[in-house]
Amino acid sequence: MRGREYKPFDWEGKFLNYPIEARNMEVTIKVTLQELIASILLDIEELNLSAKNALERAFRNVIERDRERYRGLAHSYVFEILKWKRRIDFNINSVLKGSQLEDLNPLLANLLRIGTYDLKFKNTPSAIATDSIIRVVKERFNIKTAKFANALLRGVEEFDERKALQRLRERDKIEYLSVKFSHPRWYVEYAIDLLGYDGAIRLMHSNNRSQRYYVRVNPLKTDIDTLRDYLEEKGVRTARTPLDDVLKILDYKVPLTRLSWYSKGYFVIQDLASAYVAHVLSPEKGERILDMAAAPGSKTFHVAHLMENTGEIVAIDYSRDRLEKMREKMSLLGIKNVKLVHADGRTFRGGEFDKIILDAPCSSSGTYRQFPDVKWSFSEEKIKKVIQVQKEMLRNAYKNLKKGGEMTYSTCSIRVDENEENVRYALRKGFELVPHEFTWGERGFTEIGNEVFRAFTYLHDCNSFFIAKLRKP
Ligand SMILES: C[S@@+](CC[C@H](N)C(=O)[O-])C[C@H]1O[C@@H](n2cnc3c(N)ncnc32)[C@H](O)[C@@H]1O
Repeated sequence: MRGREYKPFDWEGKFLNYPIEARNMEVTIKVTLQELIASILLDIEELNLSAKNALERAFRNVIERDRERYRGLAHSYVFEILKWKRRIDFNINSVLKGSQLEDLNPLLANLLRIGTYDLKFKNTPSAIATDSIIRVVKERFNIKTAKFANALLRGVEEFDERKALQRLRERDKIEYLSVKFSHPRWYVEYAIDLLGYDGAIRLMHSNNRSQRYYVRVNPLKTDIDTLRDYLEEKGVRTARTPLDDVLKILDYKVPLTRLSWYSKGYFVIQDLASAYVAHVLSPEKGERILDMAAAPGSKTFHVAHLMENTGEIVAIDYSRDRLEKMREKMSLLGIKNVKLVHADGRTFRGGEFDKIILDAPCSSSGTYRQFPDVKWSFSEEKIKKVIQVQKEMLRNAYKNLKKGGEMTYSTCSIRVDENEENVRYALRKGFELVPHEFTWGERGFTEIGNEVFRAFTYLHDCNSFFIAKLRKP
């Protein structure tokens, strides 16, 4: 793994200050950055939080100066460790004798993951990578555990990963690919079945690259050319995309979220494939639209923008928290034609709608580049359950749609059972497919494949995505 672009990082003296109330006095406690990162990884595992939410939660109490200083760094550690988790664990488990990482105290396990990531991925000199972790382990546990951690990290440092991977390859090719690319085993098998060996390898490679950002212009506040000029002025290089309201970010000097036009709602950050949904739906001014799984709102906002604040969009979601965030964002974006409703998309009835967006909850298996934590949060059982929800929402969409009304069904999953097979299910329940001239992307699978849209991270540099357009006859 040596020779990657990752740079070593010196942990020395990296403390964060937490103000806490104690006997009416405000005092601060110091937490090392490694400990904070390990506890974020722990929250993701144990509380089932997304990486983004876990980071937000952990930094909420950190004093502002430290937040600014360390948030970006913690974010990159958390995301990179989650990305390479399978391979990091392979290193550690190969060195552990008689037990597995899962048998260790979970905080200790995550501290060891940080040390291993530093040693094997970031070329951090072992004196820095190991010693700083050992110090935390000594403080949080005891000397015996610190000695154990020390021996383990020395072992990891000496472990010949290349040879071990070669041996694994001879024994079990799928397991080898799963470790090498750090993807769940089911995903490796699934991707090979779907795309062939080369396609699967290219897909996993692309999932492990850095996130690509896209921005969509808010037409209520500016236009695409003015936005492009503004971004250029701020040191952000952009390129046009197949969508005339979306720009691809080629490089930038400061994070896009720090630009004043972002804070003022002149543009939103939205994935390219996600921004195609509203165009495929083609809402018209004055229509009544239902968004059945709306939060955090990217597609609702896009439809509202295309309708220039006319008509009515009823945006429902199961999560109250996510709806609240949508409300804040809506006022920033100048949106006035959206009604937010906390409801279950499987049972909600809101009269007859002209059009519906069903951007269904899914396995998120098309978003591994953007959200590496979702790789590890979906079991086969959980995926089966979410497919049931998708089917129920499709049936309910039918009931909410007027005769002749149209809808888009979309997911950010690569799986046929969440996509083409669900569309075939919808056809059996009375929907018909609307022929749509997709202007970019790939077509899909099964006998309806020619009439649906697919994007893949390795081909289109965005989330892997699915869209179908349906009508109630
Ligand atoms: C893929 S996300 C939607 C993304 C959103 N359309 C956008 O573009 O920003 C799926 C959403 O479905 C919501 N959800 C899950 N189960 C639901 C249900 N039974 N009814 C309504 N919403 C549900 C989740 O809270 C989540 O916000």
